[in-house]
Amino acid sequence: MEFGMKFKRTHHCGQLRQENVGQEVALAGWVHSNRDHGGLIFIDLRDREGITQLVFNPASAQEAHTLAAVCRSEYVILARGKVTARQPETLNPKIATGGIEVHVAELQLLNRSQTPPFAVEDEVEVSEDLRLKYRYLDLRRLKMQNNLRLRHRIAKTTRDYLDGQGFLEVETPYLLKSTPEGARDYIVPSRIYPGHCFALPQSPQMLKQILMVSGCDRYFQIARCFRDEDLRADRQPEFTQIDMEMSFVDIDDILGKVEGLMTAIFACAGETALKTPYPRLSYQEAMRRFGNDKPDRRFGLELKDISSLSGQADFKVFAEAVQAGGVVKGLCVPQGGSFSRMEIDNLIALAQKFGARGMAWFKVTAQGLESNLTKYFKPELLRRIQEALEGKEGDLLIFIADNPALTNDVLSRLRLHLGAKLGMIPSDQWHLSWIVDFPLFQYDQAAKRWDPEHHPFTAPHPEDIPLLETAPGQVRSLSFDLVLNGMEIASGSVRIHQAALQSRIFQLIGISGDQARTKFGFLLDAFECGAPPHGGLAIGLDRLVMLLARERTIRDVIAFPKTQRAQDLLCGAPSEMQPDQLRELALKVVSD
Ligand code: AMO
Repeated sequence: MEFGMKFKRTHHCGQLRQENVGQEVALAGWVHSNRDHGGLIFIDLRDREGITQLVFNPASAQEAHTLAAVCRSEYVILARGKVTARQPETLNPKIATGGIEVHVAELQLLNRSQTPPFAVEDEVEVSEDLRLKYRYLDLRRLKMQNNLRLRHRIAKTTRDYLDGQGFLEVETPYLLKSTPEGARDYIVPSRIYPGHCFALPQSPQMLKQILMVSGCDRYFQIARCFRDEDLRADRQPEFTQIDMEMSFVDIDDILGKVEGLMTAIFACAGETALKTPYPRLSYQEAMRRFGNDKPDRRFGLELKDISSLSGQADFKVFAEAVQAGGVVKGLCVPQGGSFSRMEIDNLIALAQKFGARGMAWFKVTAQGLESNLTKYFKPELLRRIQEALEGKEGDLLIFIADNPALTNDVLSRLRLHLGAKLGMIPSDQWHLSWIVDFPLFQYDQAAKRWDPEHHPFTAPHPEDIPLLETAPGQVRSLSFDLVLNGMEIASGSVRIHQAALQSRIFQLIGISGDQARTKFGFLLDAFECGAPPHGGLAIGLDRLVMLLARERTIRDVIAFPKTQRAQDLLCGAPSEMQPDQLRELALKVVSD
């Protein structure tokens, strides 16, 4: 096996077609499969663009054939030969190069490979841990290469689009001070200042606001963010945002720019653009109709509130929930009347798993509502409940009675479960909508204080500013989320740009003047120096690519992700610190 390549490749492995028949070509790549058909050897050669079939005939190329016989999976080879049309019976319509094959005259083995721990196939049946440990093999799969390519195209389209709209891409530092996005920080201890540390940015939030004070006017950055939080399929400890900020704008300006960007991104991903402007739903309405603030609106199955009727029922669960300030909400499952008793019991068990104490149900029959609970309801009341849920014969009505937050949460999850079970969610459709008018604060029961719903720099709705101290729970904010098929893919707001209002908000969320100065003094100072009105948002790039790539986890669209337990299995990080490192950083490991 010589070091150099005897000749250069002329094409890639996804390129050759009928029109190339007769040409002399050279291809390089990895052995995808090797089949010896007693005489002829067939090697499927793979590179990031596709697969081409190579044919080795001992009669015409003895030396190449002998070498081909020893080429196992993932060996790296370089082959030269003639493009030939395949016999009709060997055509492979499943791959783009399936009409041709290359009859090899010369073969060079560039490198050998150990037997891979799993086959490099699009559908691999191995644990994700193994895929992450051998990420270089996992990424060789064409599906993963296509994901990387889609991500690249989306990033490039973003840069081109925003450049065209007058945005400047500005990099902000990774070694920073803590930024308040609500998660725990990743900390970097300082060697020069023992006992001091940097925090990796949870987002460039404060610096992009400072850029607005600096007169930058329109900023964007494809920015890495770091958050030490509980991980899920759509969360990573380090993830990427398309981060944007604009000066002298209102909400409509910001949403309009993002819709333009999304149209460009959908087009580059080969998807049809969605009609703009996207529907806007207030937070209140989203909670009322869907039970959460990121509703999947590709299907109906909306929640209905029957609290006003429930007080009249002899059914204690309903009546007591309403008396205690709770709600009774339900949904009508089309054709759910045909569910077996076991299917209904499973649904009840699921509701309980989601946190409900129970779930009431009625089947809609020609005679009205039927269930073991009807005896607790007057016929007129049953009729009105059926009417409120628009139940038709053959449907199933299900209800949860509890405090509003729990009721909404459980029903919104049951809605998704039932939507999937009944095949109501069109997987080939896209639905983008804005959720607006979020509350500015949410109450933290445990800490007994108001917390910002988005982050502390979000502007209150001007009409609600008088309520800030008297009824903080009723104050709406100028923030918004973008929801794609039931997933929050972006979040942003118009910001506070005046120091006095910013200090007032800090006060309300329990950050004292001194604390505010220590944590955000630089921002408050900047606000004293002519901060323009501004606002912006950040799009979760990983989530967006995941949805457009039709993947289930963002790990499949990140080249080198962390596991669900925040580990890097490829490099083996985090790893134990060496005693000399600890000494240098003036750190001590304390184990309890
Ligand atoms: P927010 O915290 O809502 O807002 O984040 C914006 C978007 O980033 C994505 N996202 C994540 N993606 C993967 N893993 C995570 N751990 C993760 N956390 C968030 C989501 C989310 O909608 N500075 C503000 C934005 C602004 O106000 O301009 C911010 O970071 O898609």
